Formats: sequence, C-alpha cells, structure tokens
Amino acid sequence: MPFFYESFSEMRLDKYLAHSTGLSRKEVKRALHEKSVSVNGNVVKEFGFQVNSNDEVIFKEQGIAAPEHRYLMLNKPQGYVCSNDDPTHPTVAGLLTAEIRPDLLNIAGRLDVDSTGLLLLTTDGQWLHKITSPNHKQAKRYLVETASAIDESAIQVFADGVLLKGEKHLTKPAKLEIIESHMAYLTLTEGKYHQVKRMFAAIGNKVTDLHRDTIGHIHLDENLGSGEYRALTADEVNQL
Ligand code: URA
Repeated sequence: MPFFYESFSEMRLDKYLAHSTGLSRKEVKRALHEKSVSVNGNVVKEFGFQVNSNDEVIFKEQGIAAPEHRYLMLNKPQGYVCSNDDPTHPTVAGLLTAEIRPDLLNIAGRLDVDSTGLLLLTTDGQWLHKITSPNHKQAKRYLVETASAIDESAIQVFADGVLLKGEKHLTKPAKLEIIESHMAYLTLTEGKYHQVKRMFAAIGNKVTDLHRDTIGHIHLDENLGSGEYRALTADEVNQL
C-alpha cells in the first residue's frame, strides 16, 4: 500500500519543497532565502507562499514535481505524546520512519498521553480540517473502562449533554453503550479538552482506560499492533 497519494489543491511552498526534494525544513528556508526557488517564473522567498499542483516550481534550475499527500493511521501506545518533540515522554512522531517525514505530518484529534488507539496523520490540511472541525461532526468512538460501575442513567445524561467544569455550553449529544459494569463505548461528535474523562468525572466516575477505535468511517485496523501504522487506503481517505 503506498504511503503517498497524488493531488492536492493548495500547499505552502516550504512544505511542497520539503516533500518533493527531501530537503529538511531548514535547508528549504535557506534555499528560499538564497532566491533559488521560483514559481511560475517569479522568484519567491516567502515560505508561506501557497502553491497548487498546476504551478511550475523550479529549484536551482530544475523543475520540482508536485508532491503527494500522505495519510496514515497509527495505533498509539500508552505513554506516548501526540507531538514531534517532548522533553519527558516518547513521541508518536518517533514511531515513524524518517522516510515518512514525521515533521511534515499533522495529527488529527490528539489523544492524551495515557490514551491508546486510532490516530490519523496527514500532510493534507483540508482533509485534517474535515476530521477535526466541529462543523463536519465526525463521530469518534472510545472504549472506556471506569473505576466505578457505570450507572444506566448515564446513557440519558450523555444523550442530553452535560455541563463540564469551566464550560458555558452543554456537551453535544453523545451515545453511551454499556458493555459491562465498568466498560462502555462512548461516541462523541466533538472534541473538547479531555472530554471523555471530564464527562465521566461529571457523573462521579473516573476513566481508568481510554482507547479510540473509530474516527468517522475509519476503524483502527485490527492487524496493527501497538505503535504500528499503515497508509490509509484510497477509500478510507475519500470517505471523509
Ligand atoms: N477524551 C479524553 O479525555 N482523552 C482523550 O485522549 C481523548 C478524548
């Protein structure tokens, strides 16, 4: 399965160059500063300049092919942070090989350091927006284990919405499916900070284990062990 897919509408020039040439972000900045890059015949020094796949990008007198976007799913292990750099914990980016260029990927819907499961990573800003923006209401499903037994009344409470500490609005209707006394699926269509843990705290319970298995139509691949990843299929990319 390829890690790269063609076609994009707009991309920043520095990302375009880093993707297509394999240069580091620092080297790209230098190339721009040294006026080695032109777009459609004009020298461009601005790294945030937007280019699209039809633009002619020249670096050091050579045409640079339009880069391809990357879309991955990763099974996040416990104890890893969703960032490129962290002083105290191993990072999700550190799980990826250099060929994938973790520095060019953004994570859709971060998980807490102690949470596990499905993460989506991509270079495609518009696709990322579709997953994360509340307007698109992509459902995210979490398998939750709790310290105390989950009362049946929580099903209605979560469906009606709860007022979380420090928030002005109720949470959006959420679906709770109780599997066992201390275990349930919770499906949300929004992503407030620590939302699952705070919702259970609001009903006097405590989340002891949190695992995401679904975002929109994308399900965590059962064949992916903890810390493993794979490219999304074209269908998975296009379903969102
Ligand atoms: N809600 C949480 O509380 N933590 C997560 O990691 C994800 C959703």
